[in-house]
Amino acid sequence: VQIDRSSGTPLRTQLAQAIRTAIDDGRLSYGVALPSSRALGEDLAVSRGVVVDAYAQLAAEGWLSARPGGTTRVAPPPVAQPGRRGASGGAAAEPRFDFRPGIPDLEAFPRAAWMAAMRQSFADAPAGALSYGDPQGVPALRQALASYLGRVRGVLTDPSLVIICSGLVQGVSLLCRVLRARGLSAVAVEDPGWRRGREVIAHCGLDPVAVPVDEEGLRVDRLAASATGAVMVTPAHQFPTGVALSSARRAALLAWSQKTGGLVIEDDYDAEYRYDHQPLGTLQALCPGRVVYAGSLSKTLAPALRLAWLVVPPGLVDDLVAVKAADDAGSPTLEQLTLARFMESGALDRHRRRSRLRYRAMRDRVVGTLAAHAPEVRPTGIAAGLHLLARLPPEMAEAEIVAAGARRSVGLYGLGFYAASDRPRPGALVIGFGAVPRHASQAALAALGATLAEGAAGARRSTARRHGALAAGPVPAQLPGA
Ligand SMILES: Cc1ncc(COP(=O)(O)O)c(C=O)c1O
Repeated sequence: VQIDRSSGTPLRTQLAQAIRTAIDDGRLSYGVALPSSRALGEDLAVSRGVVVDAYAQLAAEGWLSARPGGTTRVAPPPVAQPGRRGASGGAAAEPRFDFRPGIPDLEAFPRAAWMAAMRQSFADAPAGALSYGDPQGVPALRQALASYLGRVRGVLTDPSLVIICSGLVQGVSLLCRVLRARGLSAVAVEDPGWRRGREVIAHCGLDPVAVPVDEEGLRVDRLAASATGAVMVTPAHQFPTGVALSSARRAALLAWSQKTGGLVIEDDYDAEYRYDHQPLGTLQALCPGRVVYAGSLSKTLAPALRLAWLVVPPGLVDDLVAVKAADDAGSPTLEQLTLARFMESGALDRHRRRSRLRYRAMRDRVVGTLAAHAPEVRPTGIAAGLHLLARLPPEMAEAEIVAAGARRSVGLYGLGFYAASDRPRPGALVIGFGAVPRHASQAALAALGATLAEGAAGARRSTARRHGALAAGPVPAQLPGA
């Protein structure tokens, strides 16, 4: 462990980071006992309190397990837990290593900064803040979001056009109900695409019409045939294929909207995490009068907050706020005040910057795992977000790899799960790398690698058998030339 006293970083932070790195790269393996705080403090010439704080931080994050007065050890990777509903509705075991897409690293939630924002905003809130609030959202939060989205995503807006909702699930629901009241009967959706979004559309009495996605994103040429008055797209990082909507398609989509009067719902669910290129601009910035911009805290902080926002053209505000008021009279005020303070203090920017580095490193490790264990599996859609698409060669059947993962308690998700139609498509896995806790990442990646290596080896064997059978072939009735 190297401690740099001149770096300005607190010693406890440096020590915790050094231990995380040692666990991460396998120098400290599961179950290993760490020195007592006194012994390590003496070794490193730091106070015992520094070591106690670092150990406590790592125990809270799940890297270490400690009993009061007992030995501190490297914690085992998470174990299977019952709880999640299975496809049949019964309780299914949680996989030990879950590569579920769309979940951020919940252990990295900035608890201290969030609690500080909560404490400060609550202390400052007048008694009136505890009454019914503005159903459109707390003005301070709408103000903070308007400037944040302008700065970070180039969204053109002002607070009067921002509507706070309880997750994008509610945002989509509000939009669908307003569109339905205005006579729409269908909304075009991406195929493959966000499954829950489709369910919400259908639940609101509209028909989700599947429009295919290819290497350039949504097939806008198919939109006209869908005869819908609105389309929901993920242009910055298509969910789940990860492709970015090409500039030709962006132009075509906006031209479709201008020509038909159709509304574009731009779901920008994870675009704040972009790794290799400059962030892509939003459709909303190109055409704010025809595009609803939709964002959420679910990928940036945590789905449990149920905080999301719509930035809408002026003609939609009143109807949407009326439906929101009828739904729940507004999202919880204290959480909104907390988020406003969290953003104003710069804590959201800091969290985003830190998380981006962590997710990019994890993405690189997943890509490295594929290359090392199953080079025929091709990662795509890796430039942004919390998941990538691992394209399988034809010999590797998606369902078999998912089942092989389940046998090793590795949660893998096939592209088929997100399909909106039964169009034929190549097999692929949607690999989420946000939800894998860092302290378990080494074991999780090893299990992923072993699963894919097993699948690739099986596929190679069956290809060799087929070729062998072809080479041996049926004996011709007459030998050529005979
Ligand atoms: C494509 C997509 N859009 C939006 C969301 C956000 O939904 P919510 O804000 O309701 O958590 C998700 C979450 O899973 C998603 O996958």
